[in-house]
Amino acid sequence: MEKRILKWGILGTGRIAGVMATALKVVENSELYAVGSRSEQKAHEFATQYKIPKAYGTYEALVSDPDVDIIYIATPHNLHLENALLAMNKGKHVLCEKPLAVNEKEVRQLIEKAAEKKVFLMEALWSRFLPRIIKVKELVDSGELGDIRMLTAAFCFKSLHRPEQRHFNIDLCGGTILDIGIYNIFLSYLILGKPQEISSMAVLNNQGADTTSSYTFMYPNEVLAIMHSSFLVDAPVAAEIHGTKATLMLDDRWFNVGSVRVKYPEGAKEDVYKFDVKANGYEYEAQEAVNCILAGKIQSDLWSWNNSLELVCIMDSTRSACGIIYPKHDY
Ligand SMILES: NC(=O)c1ccc[n+]([C@@H]2O[C@H](COP(=O)([O-])OP(=O)(O)OC[C@H]3O[C@@H](n4cnc5c(N)ncnc54)[C@H](OP(=O)(O)O)[C@@H]3O)[C@@H](O)[C@H]2O)c1
Repeated sequence: MEKRILKWGILGTGRIAGVMATALKVVENSELYAVGSRSEQKAHEFATQYKIPKAYGTYEALVSDPDVDIIYIATPHNLHLENALLAMNKGKHVLCEKPLAVNEKEVRQLIEKAAEKKVFLMEALWSRFLPRIIKVKELVDSGELGDIRMLTAAFCFKSLHRPEQRHFNIDLCGGTILDIGIYNIFLSYLILGKPQEISSMAVLNNQGADTTSSYTFMYPNEVLAIMHSSFLVDAPVAAEIHGTKATLMLDDRWFNVGSVRVKYPEGAKEDVYKFDVKANGYEYEAQEAVNCILAGKIQSDLWSWNNSLELVCIMDSTRSACGIIYPKHDY
């Protein structure tokens, strides 16, 4: 068993880094110990804001601190491979933002490195660890909904990013499928597994990043998952799982903290499940990482390396079916 308190280092000081800094305050057996940025000034500002003892002006310096146990990677998608390799090569455990990397080849490289270095590696697919989504999986697996016939999921919002920022920038691997569509695809994978057939259509910007996409997956037994994502409109962010006995509804924003509703036919009955969170919901994935590391595990059973690999393969196929190519990443 490793030491009881794990020291976290946050790599990157953007939006989600701040969300995780808040969540880490309630994670057991943890200390938010260091932050690293490309800029000395940003590192110090972030450290002051979140009361973090150590601030480093390069990512290299952060991962070289011998007291840091685990690095949380919060950089744009295109950098996950490079940043996670940097950390693992220094013997650090890694919790890396989604997508774990841009394509199958990159995810395989990360898995191989984690296995070689015997360090913990997990994709920060935070929804998987929320009590709400755990309940969804439990209800489906218990047969409460009957046989699943159809799943729908949407994730749309009007992004205020400029064209050079990460949502729209092809060099940063922008586009909806890797950024927010990943949640829809995760839900379909969690509930239905690997699809048999994939069809997709996308609106691409002048850089080639998808700004609105729709994708439909076919499974054996004539089951369909119908999904879409957009950075252009504030459409409802809801998901539904339709079974032969009941329909499960996840209201806006379905991938976030919130309730689960199960509606049974003939109108009368609706069960509602509600959940409390300690911070903002991101504490569950961080707690899972800490618990695994303290138990001597290098991957999570809830979201394993193979889960990340299968998810990225489905995303590769979805992108390929509608012509989304990341020139610096598709080999
Ligand atoms: N789980 C979730 O709910 C969730 C939500 C949002 C985002 N994310 C994921 O988290 C990652 C970061 O997203 P974010 O919204 O936090 O992005 P962001 O606000 O743009 O921050 C990204 C940070 O990465 C660093 N960085 C390094 N190279 C960069 C470059 N070339 N351009 C821009 N930033 C660069 C910067 O930190 P320094 O300047 O300090 O080095 C920057 O502040 C993405 O992979 C995304 O998928 C997850």
